[in-house]
Formats: sequence, C-alpha cells, structure tokens
Amino acid sequence: MKNFKLYIQTYGCQMNVYDSDKMVDILSAKMNIKVTDKESDADILLMNTCSIREKAQEKVFSELGRWRKLKVANPNLIIGVGGCVASQEAEKIHQRAPSVDIVFGPQTLHHLPKMVNAIISKKEKITDISFDPIKKFDQLPTPGKTGPSAFVSIMEGCSKFCSFCIVPYTRGPEISRSVEDVLLEVNHLLSLGAKEIHLLGQNVNNYKSEFQGELFNLAALIRLVASMKGVERIRFTTSHPAVFDDSLVEAYKDVPQLPNYLHLPIQSASDRILMDMKRGYSQLDYRQIISKLRKVRPNISISSDFIVGYPGETSNDFEQTLKLVEQLNIDHSYSFIYSPRPGTPASFKEDNVSLEEKKSRLNTLQKLIQSNAFKISQSMVGTVEQVLITGYSSKSKEDLAGKTGNNRTVNIKGDSHLIGEMVDCEITKANLNSLNGQILEYVV
Ligand code: SAH
Ligand code: SF4
Ligand code: F3S
Repeated sequence: MKNFKLYIQTYGCQMNVYDSDKMVDILSAKMNIKVTDKESDADILLMNTCSIREKAQEKVFSELGRWRKLKVANPNLIIGVGGCVASQEAEKIHQRAPSVDIVFGPQTLHHLPKMVNAIISKKEKITDISFDPIKKFDQLPTPGKTGPSAFVSIMEGCSKFCSFCIVPYTRGPEISRSVEDVLLEVNHLLSLGAKEIHLLGQNVNNYKSEFQGELFNLAALIRLVASMKGVERIRFTTSHPAVFDDSLVEAYKDVPQLPNYLHLPIQSASDRILMDMKRGYSQLDYRQIISKLRKVRPNISISSDFIVGYPGETSNDFEQTLKLVEQLNIDHSYSFIYSPRPGTPASFKEDNVSLEEKKSRLNTLQKLIQSNAFKISQSMVGTVEQVLITGYSSKSKEDLAGKTGNNRTVNIKGDSHLIGEMVDCEITKANLNSLNGQILEYVV
C-alpha cells in the first residue's frame, strides 16, 4: 500500500482540535498515513475550518490561495476542506478555490478514507456535508495516542440558535453521545496514559443519555467518569448558563477531580442585550449560579466569553458587563468584537457601534480581566496546587511546565520522567502570564 504524508491545519475551537485528531485516526486505520508538520512534504492537505467570526472565515480562503501554489507544483496533491466553513459554504469553496478536491463537514469526517480513494481513482470533486453525528461516532476508531490531557466529545451540534451565532447552522442539531461510548473512549485514553479527561460539546451541561435504565445528565456522567481508576482531573467545555442546574453544583461539592475552574460564557451582563441575543438567562441568573458554586468552592476561578459591540449595545449596557466582571472577579475570558454572521437573526440588525468604540470596549474589558487574573495569581503564591505536568517549559528546556486546576501554566524544575504526572507543587511566584512553582513531593 502506498504511503501518504498528511498535513492538517486546524482552526477554531476544541471540538475542531478533537475532530482533527479523529481525522488522523480514521485515515490511519484505512491507509498508510504519516503525519507531517511540513505542508510542502504532504500528499494530503486537510484544513479544519472555523466560521465563528468573519476573520476566521477569510483566513481559510487566503490559506487556500497558498495551497493552490503547492498543487501547481504537485498536481497529485489532494486538498480537503472540513469543519464549519466547509459545512456552510461548500459550493463557494469549490468555486473560489478550484484546487480543493474534497469539501466535508464536521459530521462526515468518517467518510474521509472513502473520499480520498475516490479522488485518487476518479479525480472528480467531492462535497459531503450532511449531518449524521451518531454515524460519525459509531465509525470512529479508538485513538492511537494521547497526551496527559485528553478530549472526549460527549455531544455534537447545538439547537440553541443564539441570535449572533453560526454554530447551529454548521454543526447541526444537538445530539448526545451514548454513555457506553463515552466510557469506552475514556477507558481507552486512560490505558494510553491520560490523566485529565476533558469532556467536550457546545452545551455539555445539556447532556442527556439513557444508561442502564437511568437518564444520565452531565453531573451523573462526571460522577461515573470520576469513579474510573486513573482519572485525576475532569474538565468540561462549554457550559451554558441557561441549563446550569444544581446537580452540577453538587458535583463540585463531591467530586475532587473537578478543579477550581469553570468556563461559563455570559456574553453580556445587560439583560436587554441577553434577551436580544436569545440566551435564555438574566444577569441575576448568572450571578446566582456563581454564588451557589462559591458556597461549595470559595476559590473557584470563573472564565467567560464576551461579545462586545453587539448591535444596539450602549455604553450603559457595556458598563453593566464591566461591573459584573469586577464584582464576580472573572479570571479569564475569550472576548471578541461582534462579527455579523450571514443568515443569523442578528446579522439583519444594524451593526451600529463604531469600530473604534468596539475596540476601545474590548480593550477596557480585557485589561480589567487581566488585572483580576494577576491578583488571583498573586493570591496563589505560597499555596499548594495540584499541577498536571504536560511537557517542557516554553521558556527553557531545563524546566517543566504544567497546568493548575484553575488553568494557569506553572514552570517548575523537575526531571522529565514527571511529564504526564500530577504533582503537588508550591507556587513561588506570580508572573503576568504564568506562575513559578516548586514540586513538593512525588511518590513513584
Ligand atoms: N456554546 C458556547 C459558545 C460557543 S461559540 C456558548 O453558548 O457559550 C464560542 C464563542 O464565540 C461564543 O461564546 C461567543 O462569545 C463567540 N461568538 C460566537 N458568535 C460570534 C459572533 N458572531 N461574533 C463574535 N463572537 C462570537
Ligand atoms: Fe452558538 Fe448559542 Fe449554541 Fe453557543 S449556545 S454554540 S453561542 S448558538
Ligand atoms: Fe468555529 Fe465551528 Fe468551533 S464555527 S468555534 S469550529 S463549532
């Protein structure tokens, strides 16, 4: 069988990172595949795309322009475009980038081996962007390798249709994966050395699946995963405030593997804007969730997503967001300027906040969150944290780097055999974007 060198370029969220790993797994199961990190060496180039904002989408076409030149030099090169832009703009991709052979969606990546073979034999362009997540899950082979932290997809798609968001159109309706499937994958990842399991989906706290005659929600699934031998930390992304119920607060009380960290996107603290966004909760609802969590986990770090400059956002709306960030001591954010997405309800509204104002609001918000984060980091100095050692420090190959429960990078002196282990570590210094630490003990 011929050997193929595969290069994958991944944009977008953790779901896309997970899907790209699956593309490698599924192609490797059917063909002789070697992953390369050099585009010019590859026989197959795949791009896993994101369309959450206009900038992300435009990047796809500029990168495809570069890939076209590689195809001119090597006419047998196979180019595939997957992910969310592919799902929404399939025909446009074939029109604007004729060097592309395959356009596939997030739910059809399991057809990749068949599509690649068809291109080799027939050289006719292929488009396959249907929504069939259950088939996708059923046909994915078990992963070949993992790092200390492993993603596991527990649901696909989104049915919430927030006014600004493209995801429900690109990923299809929300569907939960079966408990059995999730457990099998977790088990396999543990056997490969994973210590942290990161459950993924657009609204993971809406997870619902029947298992052994009972209905499992996210909290029940977390408890089940926590009971598996070798699971040292459990993360889950993304939760939605409208469906964040007390069972998860209880899980934070009882499950030690849940770190002091929660990513809970609010988008805006103005009720008027939240209503217009169709988010399904108020500022008060959000505050209540955080207050309940802090009763059981006083030091929990809260991370959030924000959109600034949503149509009609006044300076008063924005002030409310700033106030909430300050009062709830939000530690981290993914915050962006509003970007109209074609076909979404918000895109029909006048995009009436000036770019200058949007940039200034974003800057103010991010500065405030950075300042909260630095104060939180400083308060961690002298405390003992569990740190999952993920590799070498980016600053020096002499040092190791790891992650605290509240998702901070810690640089630590230590031997390379600790990579992949959870260690107790005293925090010795807070820097702007990282911590320094010292390992307390490690039992072999
Ligand atoms: N399901 C998650 C979010 C997934 S999308 C949730 O509902 O919280 C990730 C983030 O991208 C969103 O939280 C939002 O902040 C941002 N985003 C989505 N659409 C956007 C748009 N049109 N313009 C700017 N940011 C957007
Ligand atoms: Fe988009 Fe809203 Fe679904 Fe999140 S919940 S993915 S923001 S539609
Ligand atoms: Fe982007 Fe699709 Fe994820 S639009 S953020 S890659 S779900």
